[in-house]
Amino acid sequence: MKYKLTLLLLACCSMMQAQTPVYLDPSKDIEARVEDALSRMTLAEKIDVIHAQSKFSSAGVKRLGMPDFWTDDGPHGVRPDVLWDEWEQAGQTNDSCVAFPALTCLAASWNPDCARAYGHALGEEALYRGKGMILGPGVNIYRTPLGGRNFEYMGEDPYLTSRMVVPYVQGLQSCGVASCVKHYCLNNDEEYRHQVNVIISDRALHEIYLPGFEAAVKEGKAWGIMGAYNLYKDEHNCHNQYTLNKILKQDWGFDGVVVSDWGGAHNLDQAVKNGLDMEFGTWTDGLTMGATNAYDNYYLSKGYQKAIVEGKYTTKELDEKVRRVLRLFFRTTMNKQRPYGFLCSESHYEVAQKVAAEGIVLLQNEGNVLPIKPEGKKILVVGENAIKMMTVGGGSSSLKAQHEISPLQGLQAKLKDSNCRIEFARGYVGDVGGSYNGVTTGQNLKDDRSAEELINEAVEKAKAADYVVIFGGLNKSDYQDCEGHDRKTMDLPYGQDKLITAIAAVNRQTVYVNISGNDVSMPWRKQVPSIVQGWFLGSEAGIGLADVLLGSTNPSGHLPFTWYESLDQCGAHSFGEAAFPGIWREGKKIIDEEYKEGIYVGYRWTDMKKQKPAFAFGHGLSYTTFKVTNLKAESNVTTDGNMTFKVDVTNTGTCEGSDVVQLYITDSKCSVDRPVKELKAFQKVSLKPGETKTVTLQTDKRALSFWDETTGDWKAEPGEFIAWAGDSSDRRTCKVKFTLK
Ligand code: BGC
Repeated sequence: MKYKLTLLLLACCSMMQAQTPVYLDPSKDIEARVEDALSRMTLAEKIDVIHAQSKFSSAGVKRLGMPDFWTDDGPHGVRPDVLWDEWEQAGQTNDSCVAFPALTCLAASWNPDCARAYGHALGEEALYRGKGMILGPGVNIYRTPLGGRNFEYMGEDPYLTSRMVVPYVQGLQSCGVASCVKHYCLNNDEEYRHQVNVIISDRALHEIYLPGFEAAVKEGKAWGIMGAYNLYKDEHNCHNQYTLNKILKQDWGFDGVVVSDWGGAHNLDQAVKNGLDMEFGTWTDGLTMGATNAYDNYYLSKGYQKAIVEGKYTTKELDEKVRRVLRLFFRTTMNKQRPYGFLCSESHYEVAQKVAAEGIVLLQNEGNVLPIKPEGKKILVVGENAIKMMTVGGGSSSLKAQHEISPLQGLQAKLKDSNCRIEFARGYVGDVGGSYNGVTTGQNLKDDRSAEELINEAVEKAKAADYVVIFGGLNKSDYQDCEGHDRKTMDLPYGQDKLITAIAAVNRQTVYVNISGNDVSMPWRKQVPSIVQGWFLGSEAGIGLADVLLGSTNPSGHLPFTWYESLDQCGAHSFGEAAFPGIWREGKKIIDEEYKEGIYVGYRWTDMKKQKPAFAFGHGLSYTTFKVTNLKAESNVTTDGNMTFKVDVTNTGTCEGSDVVQLYITDSKCSVDRPVKELKAFQKVSLKPGETKTVTLQTDKRALSFWDETTGDWKAEPGEFIAWAGDSSDRRTCKVKFTLK
């Protein structure tokens, strides 16, 4: 009897096994599962998976056991849930997250390991929250300091951006959560993002604006790309034949999904044919003033289905889109190997703190005012940004942080057991509000005193203080570091220049900490001994900053963009309005913006013009000092373009610290204009006092190449090149020549 039962059971099991459809069998290769699932889907089911069904979700295939697909912003933490079809908060009690430092800070760490840890921690938070895709990271290039979303991106240099985006994507996707790298492409300013048609040379497109995306796709193997709002070659980038079909899918072999930015699709025929795979945000309330629950009216919805039934289109394009969506499902929601997620863990806070610690940049430190020696001292903290929560606001990257430690709280916490006294003076009133889509900071920052009264109070207190630390800069309000608009000037808002100048005049131990994701002009720079770039640091902001100010963290961040003295030093602002913000066409529907500076963005421009910026790309000081010497090439001749360099870096100061060794390459002679130098390798190195390490840096043929517009390909011309090493673009202390044969 027992024997018979066992036989029956075995038979049942093998029957069940034989019946497991290929699409449900995780042991099968994803492509086989995709084809099997595709063959089982009805036309209506196929249409359902390629467009949104709510603000952030699209349908799965219920009949086949495939769950709905949930996306979420991105890129600095997992955004709180909004209502099904409105931008208002859903009011969940389990969607408070860890806010990680903004991507400008991550880039300033120059540490790809930080990017991997960041992506991974974010992935774990996303898993807990049931998200299959994070709408990030952003890799648009910092073209002008006025760019409203620069804080969400990784700076001005395509190489640095590329090295940082790859591990972020890999870390995130190792959790089975897709990355949706955005905004592809040429979305470098905000004001007219829906109407701007970018005109740009092929060379600048390939050398400056695409490499971050290319690396995310080819090396990071990103599963998603978000099309940008703007136009290029007169076509919106969410359905653009050239950028999506040709470059992304054909040339780079991208096998993931192209997701439209929310409301970025405009035309059925282009949406069908020009590379878009999933449509989100069209005609929904809030963004484009459409009707609610209008999902059936999306371009890739009922209208498309009808057009197929009527024979206007075959299912060729549809099947291709669905294949990509199914591949996404099998990589994420249908992936049985997915790990479990967790929210707000100690490990995630540690990552947030580590990135902050590695990204904060010490810009200037005359007379070694920093680090603060607090024993028995009186520290005056000044400024709205010392107390204002910065994780709420800024547009779609706004978060509901489980906690956010302000700079003032951070200093108070770190010094609570010391005999140091901390005082606060408001100094200026900026934006006292603090809410986004129904998430409010709960802070009451109202202060009715006049600007003069506030400055006078701060100055009087500054006279009696041993140190003054001013926390100023921008915030996440409209026309500052915020989506939807660009800044109107590079100046500090709310009369801060006057406040800083007045304080510096009465206290020589003044430290200015700038909170922003952008360059701001600093007319008082020579009067203020110490300046720190403090970014938007998220949950652990106050701890990260206090550690640097008090010296328990030795700063090691380096600038990911050129800090101009003024807009006159920026290429994008050197050609009048044609180059920024563009010129409206008749009818005012499209504004043409010509990137006339071409490849000369950031340091490439200031180098060419022989201008000295306030702080150079790659600049960053430490409480110790370093020497970068003895650059050598393994061989001074290369035939395949691959090069190996060795360079020594020594800690010549008295405390432990980390330096960023940077390698730049100059093409001595070329048939086309080339930048004076370009970043092609770097490494962050930690050193004890007196210690020397030899760093190995490798470059490949691409590092020697330019985009050849005549052949539409990369080209490295034989001849002499110079490699420079140092720890800032303006502090290159050794060089070596080599030849490409
Ligand atoms: C932004 C995207 C964002 C999307 C969803 C758009 O307005 O440009 O970056 O991911 O909204 O919130």
